[in-house]
Amino acid sequence: TILILDFGSQYSHLITRRLRECHVYAEMLPCTQKIKDLTWKPKGVILSGSPFSVYAEGSPHVDPAVFDLGVPILGICYGLQELAWTHDRGAVTESSEREYGKAEIVVHDAKNLLFDGIDHFQVWMSHGDKLSGLPKDFAITASTENSPFAAIHSTTSPIWGIQFHPEVSHTTKGTQLLENFAVKICKASTNWNMRNFIDTEIERIRTIVGPTGEVIGAVSGGVDSTVAAKLMKEAIGERFHAILVDNGLMRLNEVPTVKDTLQKGLGINLTVIDASEEFLTNLKDISDPERKRKIIGNTFIRVFEREAAKITPKNGDGEIEFLLQGTLYPDVIESISFKGPSQTIKTHHNVGGLLEDMKLKLIEPLRELFKDEVRDLGEIMGIPHDLVWRHPFPGPGIAIRILGPVSPSQIEIARKADYIFIEEIKKAGIYNNISQAFACLLPVKSVGVMGDQRTYEQVIALRAIETKDFMTADWYEFDFEFLKTVSRRIVNEVRGVARVVYDITSKPPATVEWE
Ligand code: XMP
Repeated sequence: TILILDFGSQYSHLITRRLRECHVYAEMLPCTQKIKDLTWKPKGVILSGSPFSVYAEGSPHVDPAVFDLGVPILGICYGLQELAWTHDRGAVTESSEREYGKAEIVVHDAKNLLFDGIDHFQVWMSHGDKLSGLPKDFAITASTENSPFAAIHSTTSPIWGIQFHPEVSHTTKGTQLLENFAVKICKASTNWNMRNFIDTEIERIRTIVGPTGEVIGAVSGGVDSTVAAKLMKEAIGERFHAILVDNGLMRLNEVPTVKDTLQKGLGINLTVIDASEEFLTNLKDISDPERKRKIIGNTFIRVFEREAAKITPKNGDGEIEFLLQGTLYPDVIESISFKGPSQTIKTHHNVGGLLEDMKLKLIEPLRELFKDEVRDLGEIMGIPHDLVWRHPFPGPGIAIRILGPVSPSQIEIARKADYIFIEEIKKAGIYNNISQAFACLLPVKSVGVMGDQRTYEQVIALRAIETKDFMTADWYEFDFEFLKTVSRRIVNEVRGVARVVYDITSKPPATVEWE
């Protein structure tokens, strides 16, 4: 195991991710970790980057005992400054300019194991402070045009420092560098895989929850909550209580399908609550998207709390003290990264607030994972393939795909149109080429003609995008024949629709959803 000491950089978790890609197991702990309290001995230690400056008052510093472990140490960015600071304070200076962006690295010491097999490559720099000189007993390993000390190593002990971030994808050979450190230098074993993750995570859950503790969690039918619930079920069986709140805003036939899959297929202890009327009543006449989200979020919390209170713990006298959330790593970065005040474009956190209200302790078994890893995990754990590869669906559901007020008749139209669109996408065999697709119901009427009759009905807008991270997206280039089929079917089969249009706007400037 490699120990990563986290100094708070927004990239820290990526180090774990990259090492996992090389099948090396790594554990990340806060930089304040006392070495004497570790119950295991790491094969090597990585010090992460940080938004702080090493010489600023109150900045975090590593437990000096780390240097007595006698294992290799790699400092990344702030980690490099920290190494210099602890060895030779004079070598670090505050820089008024931030260096930010790509740079070409030139390796000076070709025999250095850290750069074994990699010499010229592009690195990603993001730092303020830099070294003003070489710390005592260190030598230069590599440099860039602006950073003569882009990589340094100790001449007396197995210590390396690099100014750039090997963990981000812009550093082209970063993964190989981390692998060199972990495997060639630290001699860490390379037998980690998703199955180990499952075993470790199940053990971890059992330790946290204890022999009698009970956990509740909301499931939505999406891959994240399903995988999290399945892990819980494997770890503590019936002591995990899943709740599916039917808000009346899910896709056509979705609630019974999800119920079947989770209960019958995966054996999860699930309660389905039909709260659709309560949601619809609260949403009556509401058009503003952010108000819709707020109402749905608040109603969800109220329903969930009410229903959770009704659940009888399986162990008789115990009580439910834990809440499961299927938070993924990207959600974690979003909430902890130091970006300064950024403007809310849309509030995506549907269940924020649940925790403060319920005084429950949070369990997040997926918080280290990225979406593709969760999908791998899902496949390994026997979750149906279709569920694992499902397009994401927003928490507020179809309510933000019905522009204008949400009513039962509008929901019916939006659902049917969406169902046809997705059905045709699957039939055409392109579902997995598309990141997300759905139909939106617009609050405008347009004139049409059907048979000999004049019609005056609503418009459906189809949206389909391709994206890696949902931050930017391109619209999907369907064949015209495909669009023709979908359009014909929707107008013929869905009463209330007279016209179908296809949204050809990328993100930015548009967003994925229409609201
Ligand atoms: P936008 O519309 O922000 O969407 O470009 C990016 C991704 O986020 C989803 N989305 C939401 N998910 N609650 C959610 O759980 C929300 O309120 C919400 N709004 C957008 C959207 O479906 C897309 O995948």
